[in-house]
Amino acid sequence: MPVAVETREATGFDLDPDRLRAAVTPRTKLIVLNSPNNPTGAVFSRAALEAVARLAVERGLWVVADECYESLTFEGRHVSVASLGPEIKARTIVVNTCSKAYAMTGWRIGYAAGARELIRAMTDVQSQVTSNPSSIAQWAAVEALSGPQDEVRQDGRRVRPPAPADHRRAQRAPRRVVRDAEGRLLRLRERLGALRPDVGAG
Ligand SMILES: Cc1ncc(COP(=O)(O)O)c(C=O)c1O
Repeated sequence: MPVAVETREATGFDLDPDRLRAAVTPRTKLIVLNSPNNPTGAVFSRAALEAVARLAVERGLWVVADECYESLTFEGRHVSVASLGPEIKARTIVVNTCSKAYAMTGWRIGYAAGARELIRAMTDVQSQVTSNPSSIAQWAAVEALSGPQDEVRQDGRRVRPPAPADHRRAQRAPRRVVRDAEGRLLRLRERLGALRPDVGAG
């Protein structure tokens, strides 16, 4: 039974470690983290991630870290919770997709990194219970991930924070909250034609 831990605009939608701690019960098995976040665009602070790491290690919880927007940040560098020490690394499964950094939306291909035994078990379940990505998508992903990464780095420079006017307009749009400093989701979505700031909700 998933329990959502709310984040607040007043704190830039950063993860609040106290709220997270309060949501953990003896039945909790894992924490799903998404930073940079969709839809808020927030990049969780290092302090918040350190608090997650402490909590997970202390309570013996797994962390699934969805880092699919890791290469699309305006400023600073994305920090993976798994990089914060060997104990939390052992408890973290990083999940990612080729959809964002490599503009492969629709190819239905992603990947996970974590403890060998866990990945082996996931592979067993995946291959028997769910459908598998096509070999074409798998080879395209190998090429994307192992090929030159210049385009990914340039992407970071090409995609600019929304201009203040765009940002104000987006803020007024119903059901949408867009931050101007950290995530690039707004511009990325505009660029991909998936969503314009003056059109609907994401
Ligand atoms: C945070 C987050 N994780 C995962 C995904 C999944 O991407 P895909 O199904 O294209 O691999 C998305 C897609 O928008 C996302 O925003």
